[in-house]
Formats: sequence, C-alpha cells, structure tokens
Amino acid sequence: MTFRNVFIAVFIGTALIVAAMLINKARPIIETSQPSPEYVRASGKCAECHSRETSAIVHQFSMSAHARADITCYDCHSPESGQEEYAHNGFTLAKELTALNCARCHSTEYEQFKKSRHAAPAWAAVQGESDFTLEQIEFAEKYHPGTVRRTANKLAIVEGAGVLALGCESCHAIGKPNSDGSIGNCTQCHARHSTSIALARQPATCGQCHMGPDHSQIEIYNESKHGVLYESQKSFLNLNASPKTLTTRDMSVPTCATCHMSGLEGMNVTHDVTERLSWWLFAAISEKRPNYTMGQDAMKNICLKCHATTQVEKFYEEAEVVVHSTNAKVQEALDLIAELRQEGLLTPEPFDEPIEFMAFDLWHYYGRTAKHGAFMGGADFVQWHGNYELLLHIVEMKQIAKELRAK
Ligand code: HEC
Ligand code: HEC
Ligand code: HEC
Ligand code: HEC
Ligand code: HEC
Ligand code: HEC
Ligand code: HEC
Ligand code: HEC
Repeated sequence: MTFRNVFIAVFIGTALIVAAMLINKARPIIETSQPSPEYVRASGKCAECHSRETSAIVHQFSMSAHARADITCYDCHSPESGQEEYAHNGFTLAKELTALNCARCHSTEYEQFKKSRHAAPAWAAVQGESDFTLEQIEFAEKYHPGTVRRTANKLAIVEGAGVLALGCESCHAIGKPNSDGSIGNCTQCHARHSTSIALARQPATCGQCHMGPDHSQIEIYNESKHGVLYESQKSFLNLNASPKTLTTRDMSVPTCATCHMSGLEGMNVTHDVTERLSWWLFAAISEKRPNYTMGQDAMKNICLKCHATTQVEKFYEEAEVVVHSTNAKVQEALDLIAELRQEGLLTPEPFDEPIEFMAFDLWHYYGRTAKHGAFMGGADFVQWHGNYELLLHIVEMKQIAKELRAK
C-alpha cells in the first residue's frame, strides 16, 4: 500500500466515523443510549414511532424521573374513568389528559392542589361558578368562602371572548374544571413530559402567570436579595434534590417554590399554596385570613431555616405596617367613588367612566404591588410603583370629583 492509499483509507475511515457520530447525535437519546432493558420496556412501542414523529417529546420524557422509574407513555395516556377515548395504532388513548391522569399515582399532591386557590377559585375568578358541579362548589367554598360561588368577572365580559381565551384563561386555566370531573392540570408547573421538580422550582415557572402590574411577584423577586443571589448562584444549587430530603445545603437561596411549597428540612411539601399565607393581599382592602396565625407561623418556619428570629419578626412587623397604610389609602379612594355614585354623579355600571378605571388601578395595581413588595423584599415596588402612584391617583381622583361636583 502506498502512503497515498493509506492516507485515503484513514481519511475515508475517519470521515465515516465522524458522519456516524453526527447522525447518532441527531438521533433522540432514547435510540442512542438506552440505559437498561427496563427503560426500553418503559418507553415501549410508543417511542418506536414517536422518536421519529415527535422526537422532542420522547427526549423530554427520557430525561424525566418517570423514565427512570419505568413509567410508560401509556401509564399517562391511557384513559381514566369518565374520559373520552380513541383508537391509536393498536392502543386506546385518552382524548384529553387532565390532573386525573396524574392523580392516579399522585393523589396526595392532587388533594392538596384541589384545596388551593390554584384550583376552582382560579377559574371562578374569571368565569364564575357556572362551569362547576354543585359538589365542586361546595368543596372549594369550604376552604375559600366566596371565591367560587360568584358571577363571571365583569372586566372579562367587557373585553370579550377572543381576549378571554388567550388572556385571562391561559393563566386561570390552572384551575379549569375538566369534563372527567377533575379540576385543573399539573403541567403548568411540571410540563407534560419532563415532569420536572427542577422546572417547578424555577422562579420563571411561577413568573409565567405571577407577573405584570397587578401581581408583580416575579419582578419583585428579581429585585430582591433572594432573586439576585439566585441569579448569581443558581449553578451551585441542587434544584433536583428530592422534596422529601431537601436541605438548605441543596438550596441556600429560596425561590418562589421554597417559600410557598417546598419541604425544606423536615417541613411538609405542600401543593396548597394558600397554606403559608396570613393576609389576603390581593384584595382591595386586605384583611387577615381565617388561619392567620397558622399560615404566618408556617412561612416563618421556612424563613427560620435560614434566618434568625429577630430578623424575621422585624421583617413581618414592617411589612404589616405597609398593609395598614395601603388599606387606609385605598379606603379613601373607594369612599370617594361610593360618595360620587350616591350623589348621582356616576352611573351604576362599572368600567364606563375614567375615574372608575383610576380607582381600579389604584388598588389593583399600586395597592397590591406595595403590599406584595413589602412581603417579598421589593423596595422599588413598595415605593415608586406603589405608594407614589397611590398618592398621585388619589390627587387626580379628587380633582375629577371636584370637577364633577362643580358641574
Ligand atoms: C405506529 C406508529 C405509532 C405508534 C405505535 C404510536 N403512535 Fe402516537 N402518533 C403516531 C403518529 C404518526 C402521530 C401523528 C403525529 C403528527 O400529527 O405529526 C401520533 C400522534 C400521537 C398523539 C397526538 C394525538 C393528537 O391528535 O393530538 C399522541 C398523544 C400519541 N400519538 C401518543 C401515543 C402513545 C401514548 C402511544 C403508545 C401507547 C403511541 N402514540 C403509539 C404514531 C404512532
Ligand atoms: C407523565 C405523564 C405523561 C407521560 C409519561 C407521557 N405523556 Fe405524552 N402527554 C402528556 C400530557 C399531559 C399531554 C398533553 C395532553 C393534553 O393536553 O390533552 C401529552 C401530550 C402528548 C403528545 C401530543 C403533544 C403535542 O404537543 O402535540 C404526544 C405525541 C405524546 N404526549 C406522546 C407521548 C409519548 C410518545 C410518551 C412516551 C415516550 C408520552 N407521551 C409519555 C403526559 C404524558
Ligand atoms: C403510573 C403512575 C404515575 C403516573 C400516572 C404519573 N406519575 Fe409522576 N411519578 C411516578 C413515580 C413512580 C415517580 C418517581 C417517584 C420517585 O422517584 O420517588 C414519579 C415522580 C414524579 C415527580 C417527581 C419528579 C422528580 O424529579 O423527582 C413529579 C413532579 C411527577 N411525578 C409528576 C407527575 C405528573 C404531573 C403526572 C401527570 C401528568 C404524573 N406524575 C403521572 C408515578 C406516576
Ligand atoms: C399573566 C397571567 C394572568 C392573566 C392574563 C390574568 N390573570 Fe387574574 N390573576 C393571575 C394571578 C397570578 C393572580 C393571583 C394574584 C395574587 O394572589 O397576588 C390573579 C388574580 C386574579 C383575581 C383575584 C383573585 C380572586 O380569586 O378574586 C381576579 C378576580 C382575576 N385574577 C381575574 C382575572 C381576569 C378577569 C382576567 C382577564 C381580564 C385575568 N385575571 C387575567 C394571573 C393572571
Ligand atoms: C398557569 C398560571 C400559574 C402558575 C404557573 C402559577 N400560578 Fe400561582 N396563581 C395563579 C392564579 C390564577 C392565582 C389566583 C387564583 C385566585 O385566587 O383566583 C394564583 C395564586 C397563587 C397564590 C395565592 C394563593 C392564595 O391563597 O391567595 C400563591 C401563593 C401562588 N399562586 C404561588 C405560586 C407559585 C409558588 C408558583 C410556582 C411554583 C405558581 N403560583 C405558579 C396562577 C398561576
Ligand atoms: C422569601 C420567601 C418568599 C419568596 C422567595 C417568594 N415569596 Fe411570595 N410571599 C412570601 C410572603 C412572606 C408573603 C406574604 C404572606 C402572608 O400573607 O403572610 C408572600 C405572598 C405571596 C403572594 C400573595 C398572595 C396574596 O394574598 O395576594 C403570592 C401570589 C406570592 N407570594 C407568589 C410568589 C411568587 C410567584 C414568587 C416568586 C416569583 C414568590 N412569591 C416568592 C414569601 C415569599
Ligand atoms: C404551582 C406549581 C405546581 C403545580 C400546579 C403542581 N406542582 Fe407538583 N410540585 C411543584 C413544586 C415546586 C414541587 C417541589 C416542591 C419542593 O421543592 O419541595 C413539586 C413536587 C411534586 C412532586 C414530588 C413530591 C415529593 O414529595 O417528592 C410530585 C409527585 C408532584 N409535584 C406532582 C404534582 C401533581 C400530580 C400535580 C397536579 C395535581 C402538581 N404536582 C401540580 C409545583 C407544582
Ligand atoms: C433557603 C434559605 C432562605 C430562606 C428560606 C429565606 N431566606 Fe432570606 N436570605 C437568604 C440568604 C442566603 C440571604 C443573604 C444573606 C446574607 O448575605 O447574609 C437572604 C437575605 C434576606 C434579606 C436581605 C438581608 C440584607 O439586608 O441583605 C431579607 C430581608 C430576607 N432574606 C428575609 C427573608 C424572609 C422574611 C424569609 C421568609 C419569608 C426568608 N428571607 C427566607 C436565604 C433565605
């Protein structure tokens, strides 16, 4: 063999290997690295086709704890009782998957979720009670009186169906009743196929819905010391740690999930995000929740895993001062609207006069922002996006009232 031939042979050989590697790289993990016979069985027949048809989905699934635990595609996609079904390449699949398909194996999480405001109250906030069964209404009203037995939201009606579907409903569907009798879905926080706890612990996951001027939790968090630390240290955190054994070594910086849901060092994991709250902060005038002490103690116990008692007590005292002062400012604005209506200077309809929008923005944007900022470490939200705007709007409203009365 001449040197030239050897060179060509080596060149072609290398090229073939590289090409094979490239082709292999483009193939979904499920085809290239099947870690165990159990895993092949777990993904089974579905994956044979779907690694070609919808490879992203198979890849997402292959990264999940479910794939590691031998859960199959069919475990989720098979119909539960009450679900519409269809035939699919030799399998019978559920037409639509809901929380019920998860609840079969995760009933604890589902039961907690069902008690939270993420369930029925979230959907009723937009659509009122009409989509729920009597039994569902009674269940939710036990935990959150007045939140389901109500009429459809007036603003939603004014804005119309098109906006409703892609606006209000995209966020509030977290608690939409399903035709199989269950409520809501679990995939808003866990995604459908990676079903990840790391994803659910990301602030951005909650921030999909908890954002904007009316509930600026993600903006407040990003501004807070916790958010800034998270951003700079997230590569050192163990976001995949099991909730059952999660320690402050895994997560020395809290995300939304840590404070509101996580089972940090012996605390119970909860899917009832209401459990650790003590005030109805989203309300125009905030009052204490019925389980004020229990809720506050539960949250303080979380803070105390990382902070000293004096720090935590001081933090809560200062935040509660903001609740009281915001209540007083909002009350003044609401009283003014009530007086104008009584004097016949406003129509009884909501949202048809500019001053009504001002009053709404006043509590719904600035009042809430101030209170949420106070409890989650957002100074700018307490001040410039909050109290400054409250003052400005009250002055403007008084000016309009004066003009209306002069006429
Ligand atoms: C013989 C090949 C094959 C097998 C086996 C197979 N699928 Fe499919 N599946 C397909 C094709 C093709 C589509 C359509 C993809 C598209 O529209 O691009 C599809 C679509 C789907 C859809 C979307 C249906 C819709 O209309 O929204 C789901 C869900 C699904 N398959 C789940 C499964 C599950 C779960 C299994 C195993 C129990 C499975 N498939 C087995 C080929 C297959
Ligand atoms: C943990 C439960 C779970 C497992 C396991 C699971 N799926 Fe799904 N899958 C879902 C959910 C939830 C949806 C959304 C269905 C809906 O909205 O009705 C979905 C949707 C789909 C779709 C339609 C997605 C789209 O965007 O078009 C396909 C295709 C699919 N699954 C295939 C598979 C295959 C293949 C496997 C196994 C490799 C699998 N699924 C395993 C829960 C699961
Ligand atoms: C057939 C039973 C079964 C079904 C159906 C099922 N799961 Fe699971 N799930 C499991 C098992 C088993 C584990 C692994 C438990 C472990 O490792 O401790 C698990 C783990 C999880 C985890 C923890 C993941 C992690 O990284 O530790 C989440 C989150 C989860 N499931 C969500 C869901 C959601 C959402 C659905 C519905 C879309 C669902 N599961 C459907 C059995 C199931
Ligand atoms: C970006 C996601 C998102 C959109 C879009 C959205 N909301 Fe909300 N909404 C939320 C979140 C998150 C809360 C919880 C706020 C809190 O507790 O601080 C909330 C709270 C509420 C509340 C107060 C809680 C209650 O049960 O009374 C009402 C009412 C409400 N939304 C109605 C609507 C209506 C009506 C629309 C459309 C006109 C809408 N929302 C659009 C995410 C959204
Ligand atoms: C798909 C949208 C969506 C996602 C994602 C979401 N939420 Fe919510 N959340 C809502 C809505 C809507 C409400 C208000 C429900 C109501 O009271 O009407 C709410 C309410 C809350 C409340 C107030 C409960 C109460 O009793 O007042 C807390 C706390 C909360 N969410 C925390 C979280 C956390 C933490 C995450 C992420 C792990 C998260 N949420 C993810 C939509 C969402
Ligand atoms: C350091 C802990 C901590 C972190 C991190 C945190 N929160 Fe909070 N959150 C609180 C406290 C404390 C309250 C007020 C509790 C009370 O009512 O006593 C609160 C209140 C809320 C409320 C208000 C419910 C109402 O009554 O209006 C929502 C919604 C919420 N948080 C969502 C989030 C989201 C989303 C994130 C992440 C972007 C987040 N929180 C991050 C501690 C935290
Ligand atoms: C608001 C976001 C959110 C929703 C909605 C949600 N989860 Fe979770 N889930 C989380 C978070 C965050 C964790 C991790 C808790 C922690 O850090 O300790 C978690 C953890 C889990 C775990 C692991 C629990 C353990 O102890 O190992 C399972 C299983 C699970 N979720 C299932 C579900 C099911 C089923 C549903 C629907 C009924 C659901 N989740 C809905 C955010 C959510
Ligand atoms: C998982 C641990 C953890 C939890 C839970 C936690 N924090 Fe923190 N927090 C930290 C860390 C770490 C810092 C930065 C501390 C430092 O630099 O000394 C911090 C900083 C702060 C700061 C800013 C201190 C400063 O001046 O720099 C405040 C205020 C605060 N936390 C309040 C709270 C409150 C209130 C809670 C409960 C609602 C809470 N934290 C929950 C870890 C946590």
